[in-house]
Amino acid sequence: MKFLFSLTILLVIVLFCVVGSLSASSCKYPGYSTQGVTKTNNGYEATLNLISPGPYGNDIEQLNFQLTFETSQIFRVRITDPNNQRWEVPPTVNKLVGVDPESTDYLIEFTNNPFGFAATRISTGEVLFNTTQPGDCSFNGLIYSNYYLELSTSFLESNPNIYGLGERTSQLRLFNNFTYTLFAKDQGTASTPNINLYGSHPFYLQLSSSSGNAHGVFLLNSNAMDVQLQPNSLTYKVVGGIFDLFFFTGPTPLSVIQQYSQVIGTTHMPSYWSLAYHNCRWGYHSIAETGQVVANYSKFNIPLETMWNDIDYMDSFRDFTTDPVNFAASDYKTFIDGLHANNQHYIMIVDPGISNIEPIYQSHIDLMESGAYIKAGGTDGEPLVGSVWPGYVNFPDFLHPNATEFWTQQFERFYETVQFDGVWIDMNEISNFCDGNCFNNTDVPMPAPEFDPNYPPYIPGGVPLYSKTINMTSLQYNNTLVYNSHSIYGYTEGLATQLAVQSILGTRSTIISRSTFPGTGAHFAHWLGDNYSSFTDMYYSIPGMLAMNMFGIPFVGADICGFNGDSNAELCGRWLQLGCFYPFTRNHNTFLGAPQEPWVFGQEVVDISIKAINGKLTLLPFYYTLFHISRVSGDPVVRPLFFEYPLDPKTFAIDQQFLVGTSIMVSPVLAQGATTVSAYFPNDVWYEYGGNGSLVQSVGAYQTLDAPFDVINVHVRGGNIIPTQPTSSYVTPEDGIPITTKISRTLPFELIIALDSSLQATGQLFLDDGESLQTYVDNKYSFIQFDVVSSTSSSVYKLQSTIINNNYNGTATLNIGSIQIYGSPSVKQVIVNGNPINTFNAVTDTTLAVSNLSLSLDESFEVDFV
Ligand code: GLC
Repeated sequence: MKFLFSLTILLVIVLFCVVGSLSASSCKYPGYSTQGVTKTNNGYEATLNLISPGPYGNDIEQLNFQLTFETSQIFRVRITDPNNQRWEVPPTVNKLVGVDPESTDYLIEFTNNPFGFAATRISTGEVLFNTTQPGDCSFNGLIYSNYYLELSTSFLESNPNIYGLGERTSQLRLFNNFTYTLFAKDQGTASTPNINLYGSHPFYLQLSSSSGNAHGVFLLNSNAMDVQLQPNSLTYKVVGGIFDLFFFTGPTPLSVIQQYSQVIGTTHMPSYWSLAYHNCRWGYHSIAETGQVVANYSKFNIPLETMWNDIDYMDSFRDFTTDPVNFAASDYKTFIDGLHANNQHYIMIVDPGISNIEPIYQSHIDLMESGAYIKAGGTDGEPLVGSVWPGYVNFPDFLHPNATEFWTQQFERFYETVQFDGVWIDMNEISNFCDGNCFNNTDVPMPAPEFDPNYPPYIPGGVPLYSKTINMTSLQYNNTLVYNSHSIYGYTEGLATQLAVQSILGTRSTIISRSTFPGTGAHFAHWLGDNYSSFTDMYYSIPGMLAMNMFGIPFVGADICGFNGDSNAELCGRWLQLGCFYPFTRNHNTFLGAPQEPWVFGQEVVDISIKAINGKLTLLPFYYTLFHISRVSGDPVVRPLFFEYPLDPKTFAIDQQFLVGTSIMVSPVLAQGATTVSAYFPNDVWYEYGGNGSLVQSVGAYQTLDAPFDVINVHVRGGNIIPTQPTSSYVTPEDGIPITTKISRTLPFELIIALDSSLQATGQLFLDDGESLQTYVDNKYSFIQFDVVSSTSSSVYKLQSTIINNNYNGTATLNIGSIQIYGSPSVKQVIVNGNPINTFNAVTDTTLAVSNLSLSLDESFEVDFV
């Protein structure tokens, strides 16, 4: 305590030197000053007065500054215009309980003239964010005008490790000298690195190279923005809204994401089946063709969980219709009934644009009647006209209170014909093939003639904002300018879709959306968009997936085998191996792409796909448990190596490998022709997963691993217990019912125990029916803890289970059939609940296999290894 007090005093002195010494500035844009900052019950407030105008005019003379202590590790800063209600993102963030100011792990210091603030993490003494303008004027003070906001922070250490700021295709660790644009956009392909893509996530995680400590910053703002990274600073350049910033003090990367999740919501629990293998393509032209693909999966014994259709199923690409010839209603029904009879699932695409082409159809009539459509600016409320697959369309306005009812009505009617199990929502950035408004591109500039929202004075990304989307002058509910709401369109569509689908199915819905915004993960999932069939894009899928996990969207994957262009045997085989470790595993292809279902590449790729998909099914209890943990505490499901090894700088840039949970490391081949892979092993005990469990003891070094075509290198980290359900015990019966999660969920479990150097390990298992909406509310789940404790008096080590919750009524039918122990010293006896057994054998000197068990998960158990 005394130490903490002295540290605080020291900090104040240091900060005074850093912050307090600055007074009236000679810089061109010093920003604002204040007469003083007032302490409130749970933070600070101040009135800020403009010192001199910023570069674009329309500066707001007086601002409110408000800082609130949200939790001991989270504080929030809002800078608003007290005289005008500016656009704010509709409430999507969680309300946090206030906190005792004495217990915060941050210290906030201010300068008055010009105004600035600096936040220091008390427990480590590191300055996390410092807006005070440096004496060399290397960045501006606060700029706050009608259409342009700017705020900068200096870095405590140059060139820090920065992650986040998506969505884009990029390496995981961002460049230190680069301007990243954030604005939801369908750029037609996700293959161009670093440009802004489908979603906007103004969140970054910063990791100190010297201390390994991390913190995070979230700007809750949906306007277009650039975030400029320079070696010593970060600058937000935003075209509207307010500054509403959340700061997370960490100090570990994991705790930063947990804190961020407290604000934006932790993940929704996906249905169990949706974690298995999906097959899709654009260009299955008929039900017959779609059915043939499903039949081929069975024929080749490749476990297909879910079949998808793209826009091909629609009548003239109109939402909520079916092609009367190629997807005739009765054939459709027979097809989906067949899938369901085999315990398989069905998902189809829905785009937001509702065709307005003659003859006008029911969905369009309903949309117009609901009034919930986006209106063209400068008109008398006429619907804005865009162009997507069906031709001209109008777009539902999901901010409108009638939108959910309209949307639900469409899905309900459609469901009468197509009994879908999930929905894929696409083109929701909004993507538009005409820039602006197809019919009337002379929308009156809004709201003032001198300001055209398509061309604000500062244009993030440098391209007019309406390019590839609708006019920024368009209006949503309550005269909301699309200029402000553009990047939340997909998010709001997803929320409406979730409500619609859940009300129809009565179970958890599986919704995969292309456009996302902070908070998405709490409701639906995401795929990374239109990649290219190339090894480069296969690599980019890893940082893409890891970034989304940091954005609180753990249910994510990329198009396996690649979307644009033609795939090939080697690429597709490698990608299937990797993709079966994505949380969302879907093979998807474009219209003109050569077929890429596994069998088109011959038996070798078929075998690879069977092995990979069975591998995912086997690991699903583990993935599902990770989702539960993520739902509870916000942990990513897949994560970069640096999350677990923040003190090892060699991990900071690694994005060709990743961890599943804390314990499985995947090191895929990402280069054509390669039959080895160079994999980094952090200082730990690792065991080969899936083979003989051979040991890799590392002090932190790269190793070259064999990676023949049918092998993906996967290692388990010592200290962990992985619950699996190997599919190997399933034999396809005479009637040919292929294996799906319905079956794999019932198979005997195998615990994979990877001992650490002190012969300990721990793991968890979450069980429920896999689809109920009410699992948590009704407490219908089980949660079991497994621990290996070393050298008790009677044994070398002992495995024990502890039932933490036992309310899933299927638990009693599940049991553990076998155990593999990696890193085991030799044992002479295995004693299960007091009874010696003889069904164990040493696979190698250090791997022990115990079989023929039947340990009910309903009861706690003990296994002594003597
Ligand atoms: C978009 C989607 C892609 C889909 C296509 C046709 O490009 O990103 O996945 O196949 O539209 O609907």
